Amino acid sequence: MTDQTKTRGRFIVFEGIDGAGKTTQIELLEQALRAEGRLVFRTAEPTESVSGGLLRDALGGVSKRTACEMAALFVLDRIFHNVSPVSGIEKMLADGIDVICDRYYYSSLAYQGSEIEGDWVWRMNLDCPEIRHPDLCIFLDLTPEQSMERINRGRVTHEIYENEERLRRVRDRFFGVFDALKNTDRICVVDAARPIAEIHNEIVSLVKQM
Ligand code: TYD
Repeated sequence: MTDQTKTRGRFIVFEGIDGAGKTTQIELLEQALRAEGRLVFRTAEPTESVSGGLLRDALGGVSKRTACEMAALFVLDRIFHNVSPVSGIEKMLADGIDVICDRYYYSSLAYQGSEIEGDWVWRMNLDCPEIRHPDLCIFLDLTPEQSMERINRGRVTHEIYENEERLRRVRDRFFGVFDALKNTDRICVVDAARPIAEIHNEIVSLVKQM
C-alpha cells in the first residue's frame, strides 16, 4: 500500500475528572484494537516535551504559574503534540495508526477556561490550525464524591486540581464544554462508576460505530 492509499488512523481522546479510570480503560482499548490487528499510538497530555515538563512542575506545585501561563503552555504543548515530525498525532494518523490520547483540549476548556474570563482559551485551542479536532471524545463520568473516594484510596500526593468542590465545578464545566461543542465534536459520556469490563464493552462499541 502506498502512503496515498493508506487509510488514516482514528483519533480517540479520553477525558474525565481525576480518578475516573482513564488509564485502565485506555489500556483495555489499546489491547482490543491491537487484537483486531490495528496499530495503536498511545499518548497523553501534558506530553514529554519541554512545555509538558513545565506544566507538570506547575501542576505538582514545584513552580507557580498564572492561569494564562498555564493555558498558553497547554496550547504550546498541544501544538507540539500535533505536529512533531517524530511522534506527532498528525504523523501517526497519516501513517494509518490509531491514536489514543489521555486528555486534550476539552481539559483546557474545562480547567483553564473556567479560570480565565472571556473566550481566549477557547479561541486559542479551537481556532488553531495546528490543533486537530479528535474523531471521538470519550468522557468517563464520575460524580465528584465517587472521584474523591477513588483518589483518596489510591494515591499519596494530590495534585492541585484534586479537591471535591473543584471537581464539581470542573465536571459541570466539562458538561458545558460538551454542550457548546455538540455540533462540531463527537463526544460520548460514559458512566465510569460501573464494573471495568462493562465500561470497556461500551467503549469498544462506541469505537466500532466510528
Ligand atoms: P496527570 O496526573 O498527568 O493526568 P490525569 O489526572 O489525567 O491522570 O494530570 C494532568 C492534570 O492536568 C489534570 O489535573 C488536568 C490538568 N490539565 C489541564 O488543566 N489542562 C489541560 O489542557 C490538560 C491536558 C490537563
